[in-house]
Amino acid sequence: NPQIIRSLRDLRTKVAEWRKDGARIGVVPTMGALHDGHLSLVKAAKHDCDRVIVTLFVNPAQFNNPSDLDSYPRTEDSDCDKLAPFAVDVLYAPDVDQMYPTGFATTVSVSGLTDVLCGAHRPGHFDGVATIVTKLFMQSGADKAYFGEKDFQQLQVVRRMTRDLDLPIEVIGCPTVRERDGLAMSSRNERLSDTARGQAAGLIREMRRMAEGLRAGGGVADLRAVAEAQLLQDGFTEVDYLDLRGAEDLECQERLSGEGRLFAAAWIDGVRLIDNIPV
Ligand code: PAJ
Repeated sequence: NPQIIRSLRDLRTKVAEWRKDGARIGVVPTMGALHDGHLSLVKAAKHDCDRVIVTLFVNPAQFNNPSDLDSYPRTEDSDCDKLAPFAVDVLYAPDVDQMYPTGFATTVSVSGLTDVLCGAHRPGHFDGVATIVTKLFMQSGADKAYFGEKDFQQLQVVRRMTRDLDLPIEVIGCPTVRERDGLAMSSRNERLSDTARGQAAGLIREMRRMAEGLRAGGGVADLRAVAEAQLLQDGFTEVDYLDLRGAEDLECQERLSGEGRLFAAAWIDGVRLIDNIPV
């Protein structure tokens, strides 16, 4: 199993040792409750780097809903077991005081990209993400950091912030890992009832159908109306967004032009699911 490190001091000592040997270091930031999506990032990091740090920190600052934070799964022991086959070097699992000491007063905020999609529906969320990811980058001193396309907006926010602040790290995006029925893996899927779990793949099914319609020259508004109606019929209770946007700038498109990406967020059984696919 990986060595568990809880203090920044110990982490820095370990990383300095590795550096002396000229090791290339990768970091995989997570909030735990690991599944095959997370593990695909770990695999990519192990492939590229000599040493790999997985971070586990349920970051209060990025939860805009207190009950979502409270009910977020905390499963450090089984997470550790899941990492064992990958020969991860360190599991860095700091506590809240380590990350947010008394008097903590600094926020990293990326404008523009965070005004839309999840940013519009979850106030403060991306400030929380950008701030903690900056800290994890600076704390780990890694050469490369691995993020999933599952959270595509997060990936773009992290890329932009890294470029804008000249953070000395390379950000690598990895493809979304899905369940057999197409549902994107997520720690939040565990909260679904059996019925809702059966219905949840309706989201990616409707997104794929909508992508086909877009490729055939259809307009977003019409296709969205059809998809939304179908989702509401299939057990979803609300659709937060279903947008075609530019993959780089996340600007809205009404029709397919160049490289587009379809983004969705919808509620089922009290759980908010998100997904995105290239079009
Ligand atoms: P978390 O939701 O635990 O996700 C950690 C990483 O795993 C993220 O980069 C996410 O995009 C990736 N991931 C999750 N599900 C995936 C899937 N099905 N396929 C591929 N990758 C997947 O995202 C966060 O934590 C936090 O915001 C964090 C970046 C750790 C900052 O607190």
